[in-house]
Amino acid sequence: MHSDVIIRKCKRSDWKGIMDVCYHTGYMGEDAQGHFGDKFLFGLLFSIYYPWFEWWNCFVAVHNNKVIGYILGSLDSNIQHKMFIAKIGPLILARLALVSWWRYPNTLKILVHLIKQFPQALNNNAISDSDINLSYPAHLHIDILAPYQHQGIGSKLISLYENHVKSHNVPGIHLDTSNKNFKAIPFYFKHGYKIIRKLNSSLWPDSPNTIQLTFAKKLK
Ligand SMILES: CC(C)(COP(=O)(O)OP(=O)(O)OC[C@H]1O[C@@H](n2cnc3c(N)ncnc32)[C@H](O)[C@@H]1OP(=O)(O)O)[C@@H](O)C(=O)NCCC(=O)NCCS
Repeated sequence: MHSDVIIRKCKRSDWKGIMDVCYHTGYMGEDAQGHFGDKFLFGLLFSIYYPWFEWWNCFVAVHNNKVIGYILGSLDSNIQHKMFIAKIGPLILARLALVSWWRYPNTLKILVHLIKQFPQALNNNAISDSDINLSYPAHLHIDILAPYQHQGIGSKLISLYENHVKSHNVPGIHLDTSNKNFKAIPFYFKHGYKIIRKLNSSLWPDSPNTIQLTFAKKLK
Protein backbone atom coordinates (compact mmCIF):
# COMPACT_ATOMS: atom_id res chain seq x y z
CA MET A 1 0.00 0.00 0.00
CA HIS A 2 1.28 3.51 -0.82
CA SER A 3 2.62 4.74 2.51
CA ASP A 4 0.77 8.03 2.17
CA VAL A 5 -2.69 6.59 1.51
CA ILE A 6 -4.96 7.56 4.41
CA ILE A 7 -8.02 5.56 5.38
CA ARG A 8 -10.68 7.51 7.24
CA LYS A 9 -14.41 7.83 7.89
CA CYS A 10 -16.37 9.21 4.97
CA LYS A 11 -17.63 12.81 4.94
CA ARG A 12 -20.59 14.12 3.00
CA SER A 13 -18.22 16.28 0.95
CA ASP A 14 -16.46 13.14 -0.39
CA TRP A 15 -19.39 12.47 -2.72
CA LYS A 16 -17.75 13.73 -5.95
CA GLY A 17 -14.60 11.67 -5.35
CA ILE A 18 -16.73 8.63 -4.56
CA MET A 19 -18.78 9.19 -7.73
CA ASP A 20 -15.54 9.27 -9.79
CA VAL A 21 -14.15 6.06 -8.26
CA CYS A 22 -17.51 4.37 -8.79
CA TYR A 23 -17.60 5.42 -12.45
CA HIS A 24 -14.06 4.24 -13.17
CA THR A 25 -14.51 0.82 -11.50
CA GLY A 26 -18.24 0.16 -11.72
CA TYR A 27 -18.56 -1.77 -14.96
CA MET A 28 -18.13 -5.25 -13.51
CA GLY A 29 -14.94 -4.07 -11.83
CA GLU A 30 -13.70 -2.08 -14.86
CA ASP A 31 -14.11 1.50 -16.15
CA ALA A 32 -17.70 2.37 -17.08
CA GLN A 33 -16.54 5.07 -19.49
CA GLY A 34 -17.47 3.94 -22.99
CA HIS A 35 -20.29 1.77 -21.63
CA PHE A 36 -22.47 4.32 -19.81
CA GLY A 37 -22.27 7.99 -20.86
CA ASP A 38 -23.90 9.83 -17.96
CA LYS A 39 -21.48 9.76 -15.02
CA PHE A 40 -23.80 11.66 -12.68
CA LEU A 41 -26.68 9.28 -13.38
CA PHE A 42 -24.30 6.36 -12.79
CA GLY A 43 -23.43 7.95 -9.45
CA LEU A 44 -27.10 8.39 -8.54
CA LEU A 45 -27.77 4.73 -9.35
CA PHE A 46 -24.79 3.20 -7.57
CA SER A 47 -22.95 5.42 -5.08
CA ILE A 48 -24.16 8.94 -4.27
CA TYR A 49 -26.84 7.80 -1.82
CA TYR A 50 -24.19 6.70 0.70
CA PRO A 51 -22.12 9.89 1.16
CA TRP A 52 -25.29 12.01 1.00
CA PHE A 53 -27.50 10.06 3.37
CA GLU A 54 -25.43 7.45 5.26
CA TRP A 55 -21.83 8.69 5.35
CA TRP A 56 -21.37 7.56 8.97
CA ASN A 57 -21.42 3.91 7.78
CA CYS A 58 -18.77 4.44 5.07
CA PHE A 59 -14.98 4.74 4.85
CA VAL A 60 -12.71 6.20 2.17
CA ALA A 61 -9.07 5.77 1.12
CA VAL A 62 -7.46 9.09 0.20
CA HIS A 63 -4.19 9.86 -1.59
CA ASN A 64 -2.99 13.44 -2.09
CA ASN A 65 -6.42 14.69 -0.98
CA LYS A 66 -8.15 12.61 -3.66
CA VAL A 67 -10.54 9.75 -2.93
CA ILE A 68 -8.97 6.65 -4.52
CA GLY A 69 -11.19 4.00 -2.94
CA TYR A 70 -14.12 3.43 -0.64
CA ILE A 71 -16.33 1.01 1.18
CA LEU A 72 -19.95 2.14 1.27
CA GLY A 73 -22.65 0.39 3.19
CA SER A 74 -25.68 0.34 5.36
CA LEU A 75 -26.44 -1.51 8.58
CA ASP A 76 -30.09 -2.09 7.68
CA SER A 77 -30.68 -2.92 4.01
CA ASN A 78 -34.48 -2.77 4.32
CA ILE A 79 -34.41 0.82 5.54
CA GLN A 80 -31.71 1.73 3.03
CA HIS A 81 -33.83 0.40 0.18
CA LYS A 82 -36.79 2.57 1.21
CA MET A 83 -34.58 5.62 1.74
CA PHE A 84 -32.97 5.12 -1.68
CA ILE A 85 -36.34 5.09 -3.40
CA ALA A 86 -37.59 8.12 -1.47
CA LYS A 87 -34.46 10.27 -1.70
CA ILE A 88 -32.66 9.21 -4.89
CA GLY A 89 -35.62 7.94 -6.97
CA PRO A 90 -36.93 11.47 -7.75
CA LEU A 91 -33.42 12.67 -8.62
CA ILE A 92 -32.95 9.79 -11.07
CA LEU A 93 -36.26 10.65 -12.74
CA ALA A 94 -35.37 14.36 -12.91
CA ARG A 95 -31.93 13.61 -14.38
CA LEU A 96 -33.48 11.32 -16.99
CA ALA A 97 -36.13 13.88 -17.94
CA LEU A 98 -33.86 16.93 -18.02
CA VAL A 99 -30.47 15.67 -19.22
CA SER A 100 -29.86 11.98 -19.91
CA TRP A 101 -32.44 11.32 -22.64
CA TRP A 102 -31.05 13.88 -25.08
CA ARG A 103 -27.42 14.18 -24.01
CA TYR A 104 -26.67 10.50 -23.41
CA PRO A 105 -29.11 8.45 -25.52
CA ASN A 106 -27.10 5.24 -24.95
CA THR A 107 -27.62 5.65 -21.20
CA LEU A 108 -31.36 5.67 -21.71
CA LYS A 109 -31.18 2.46 -23.75
CA ILE A 110 -29.28 0.76 -20.93
CA LEU A 111 -31.82 1.91 -18.37
CA VAL A 112 -34.71 0.56 -20.43
CA HIS A 113 -32.81 -2.75 -20.62
CA LEU A 114 -32.24 -2.63 -16.85
CA ILE A 115 -35.91 -2.01 -16.07
CA LYS A 116 -37.01 -4.82 -18.40
CA GLN A 117 -34.45 -7.18 -16.94
CA PHE A 118 -35.76 -9.00 -13.91
CA PRO A 119 -33.10 -11.16 -12.28
CA GLN A 120 -34.19 -14.79 -12.29
CA ALA A 121 -33.18 -17.39 -9.78
CA LEU A 122 -31.12 -20.22 -11.24
CA ASN A 123 -32.78 -22.70 -8.94
CA ASN A 124 -36.14 -22.83 -7.20
CA ASN A 125 -34.65 -22.86 -3.71
CA ALA A 126 -32.96 -19.47 -4.14
CA ILE A 127 -33.06 -17.41 -0.97
CA SER A 128 -35.28 -14.29 -1.16
CA ASP A 129 -34.13 -10.68 -0.61
CA SER A 130 -36.12 -10.48 2.61
CA ASP A 131 -34.48 -13.63 4.00
CA ILE A 132 -31.06 -12.28 3.04
CA ASN A 133 -31.81 -9.01 4.82
CA LEU A 134 -32.95 -10.92 7.90
CA SER A 135 -29.80 -13.05 8.27
CA TYR A 136 -27.34 -10.52 6.82
CA PRO A 137 -28.91 -7.08 7.39
CA ALA A 138 -25.88 -5.00 6.43
CA HIS A 139 -24.55 -4.68 2.90
CA LEU A 140 -21.47 -3.18 1.25
CA HIS A 141 -19.98 -1.81 -1.98
CA ILE A 142 -16.20 -1.62 -2.29
CA ASP A 143 -14.12 -0.12 -5.11
CA ILE A 144 -10.49 0.96 -5.49
CA LEU A 145 -9.07 2.84 -8.50
CA ALA A 146 -6.95 0.60 -10.75
CA PRO A 147 -3.48 2.05 -9.89
CA TYR A 148 -4.15 1.37 -6.19
CA GLN A 149 -5.57 -2.14 -6.46
CA HIS A 150 -3.94 -5.29 -5.04
CA GLN A 151 -1.92 -3.34 -2.45
CA GLY A 152 -3.95 -4.21 0.63
CA ILE A 153 -6.26 -1.16 0.64
CA GLY A 154 -9.42 -3.19 0.00
CA SER A 155 -8.51 -5.59 2.81
CA LYS A 156 -8.05 -2.69 5.24
CA LEU A 157 -11.37 -1.14 4.23
CA ILE A 158 -13.35 -4.36 4.55
CA SER A 159 -11.86 -5.12 8.00
CA LEU A 160 -12.73 -1.63 9.20
CA TYR A 161 -16.28 -1.96 7.90
CA GLU A 162 -16.76 -5.41 9.45
CA ASN A 163 -15.62 -4.07 12.84
CA HIS A 164 -18.00 -1.13 12.45
CA VAL A 165 -20.91 -3.47 11.64
CA LYS A 166 -20.02 -5.80 14.55
CA SER A 167 -19.85 -2.87 16.95
CA HIS A 168 -23.54 -2.23 16.14
CA ASN A 169 -24.45 -5.87 16.88
CA VAL A 170 -25.51 -6.53 13.30
CA PRO A 171 -25.22 -10.29 12.66
CA GLY A 172 -24.12 -10.37 9.01
CA ILE A 173 -23.19 -8.60 5.77
CA HIS A 174 -24.13 -9.34 2.17
CA LEU A 175 -23.18 -7.89 -1.20
CA ASP A 176 -23.89 -8.42 -4.88
CA THR A 177 -21.32 -8.87 -7.60
CA SER A 178 -21.15 -10.83 -10.86
CA ASN A 179 -19.32 -13.84 -12.21
CA LYS A 180 -17.38 -11.36 -14.38
CA ASN A 181 -15.90 -9.34 -11.47
CA PHE A 182 -12.67 -11.32 -11.67
CA LYS A 183 -10.78 -9.40 -8.96
CA ALA A 184 -13.66 -9.20 -6.52
CA ILE A 185 -14.52 -12.91 -6.38
CA PRO A 186 -11.15 -14.08 -4.92
CA PHE A 187 -11.18 -11.00 -2.68
CA TYR A 188 -14.51 -11.93 -1.04
CA PHE A 189 -13.53 -15.60 -0.70
CA LYS A 190 -10.27 -14.55 0.95
CA HIS A 191 -12.25 -12.50 3.48
CA GLY A 192 -14.54 -15.37 4.43
CA TYR A 193 -17.61 -14.54 2.32
CA LYS A 194 -19.67 -17.36 0.78
CA ILE A 195 -21.94 -17.38 -2.26
CA ILE A 196 -25.54 -17.68 -1.03
CA ARG A 197 -27.41 -16.98 -4.28
CA LYS A 198 -26.90 -17.01 -8.04
CA LEU A 199 -29.29 -15.11 -10.33
CA ASN A 200 -29.47 -14.96 -14.07
CA SER A 201 -29.09 -11.22 -14.48
CA SER A 202 -27.43 -9.36 -17.34
CA LEU A 203 -27.40 -5.84 -15.99
CA TRP A 204 -25.38 -4.57 -18.96
CA PRO A 205 -26.82 -5.13 -22.44
CA ASP A 206 -23.28 -5.43 -23.89
CA SER A 207 -22.46 -8.26 -21.47
CA PRO A 208 -25.01 -11.02 -21.89
CA ASN A 209 -25.00 -14.29 -19.93
CA THR A 210 -23.89 -12.66 -16.72
CA ILE A 211 -24.71 -14.26 -13.39
CA GLN A 212 -25.34 -12.11 -10.33
CA LEU A 213 -23.65 -13.56 -7.26
CA THR A 214 -24.75 -12.67 -3.75
CA PHE A 215 -21.99 -13.17 -1.19
CA ALA A 216 -22.57 -13.12 2.56
CA LYS A 217 -20.71 -13.47 5.84
CA LYS A 218 -21.99 -14.05 9.35
CA LEU A 219 -20.32 -11.90 11.98
CA LYS A 220 -21.53 -13.69 15.12
C1 LIG B 1 -11.86 -6.08 -5.52
C2 LIG B 1 -11.09 -4.98 -4.81
C3 LIG B 1 -12.04 -4.13 -3.95
C4 LIG B 1 -10.05 -5.63 -3.90
O1 LIG B 1 -9.33 -4.60 -3.23
P1 LIG B 1 -7.73 -4.60 -3.32
O2 LIG B 1 -7.21 -3.48 -2.50
O3 LIG B 1 -7.36 -4.60 -4.77
O4 LIG B 1 -7.39 -6.03 -2.67
P2 LIG B 1 -6.21 -6.43 -1.69
O5 LIG B 1 -4.90 -5.86 -2.15
O6 LIG B 1 -6.61 -6.13 -0.29
O7 LIG B 1 -6.14 -8.00 -2.00
C5 LIG B 1 -6.79 -8.99 -1.27
C6 LIG B 1 -7.13 -10.16 -2.17
O8 LIG B 1 -8.05 -9.76 -3.19
C7 LIG B 1 -7.83 -10.53 -4.39
N1 LIG B 1 -7.39 -9.64 -5.48
C8 LIG B 1 -7.09 -8.33 -5.40
N2 LIG B 1 -6.75 -7.86 -6.63
C9 LIG B 1 -6.82 -8.91 -7.46
C10 LIG B 1 -6.57 -9.04 -8.86
N3 LIG B 1 -6.17 -8.01 -9.62
N4 LIG B 1 -6.76 -10.26 -9.42
C11 LIG B 1 -7.17 -11.31 -8.68
N5 LIG B 1 -7.41 -11.23 -7.34
C12 LIG B 1 -7.23 -10.04 -6.75
C13 LIG B 1 -6.72 -11.53 -4.03
O9 LIG B 1 -7.35 -12.66 -3.49
C14 LIG B 1 -5.99 -10.77 -2.94
O10 LIG B 1 -5.25 -11.63 -2.11
P3 LIG B 1 -3.67 -11.90 -2.44
O11 LIG B 1 -3.00 -10.58 -2.20
O12 LIG B 1 -3.28 -12.94 -1.44
O13 LIG B 1 -3.57 -12.31 -3.86
C15 LIG B 1 -10.35 -4.06 -5.83
O14 LIG B 1 -9.44 -4.85 -6.59
C16 LIG B 1 -11.27 -3.33 -6.77
O15 LIG B 1 -11.80 -2.27 -6.43
N6 LIG B 1 -11.50 -3.87 -7.99
C17 LIG B 1 -12.30 -3.21 -9.02
C18 LIG B 1 -13.72 -2.89 -8.59
C19 LIG B 1 -14.46 -4.11 -8.07
O16 LIG B 1 -14.46 -5.18 -8.67
N7 LIG B 1 -15.13 -3.91 -6.92
C20 LIG B 1 -15.98 -4.91 -6.33
C21 LIG B 1 -17.33 -4.78 -6.88
S1 LIG B 1 -18.43 -6.03 -6.28
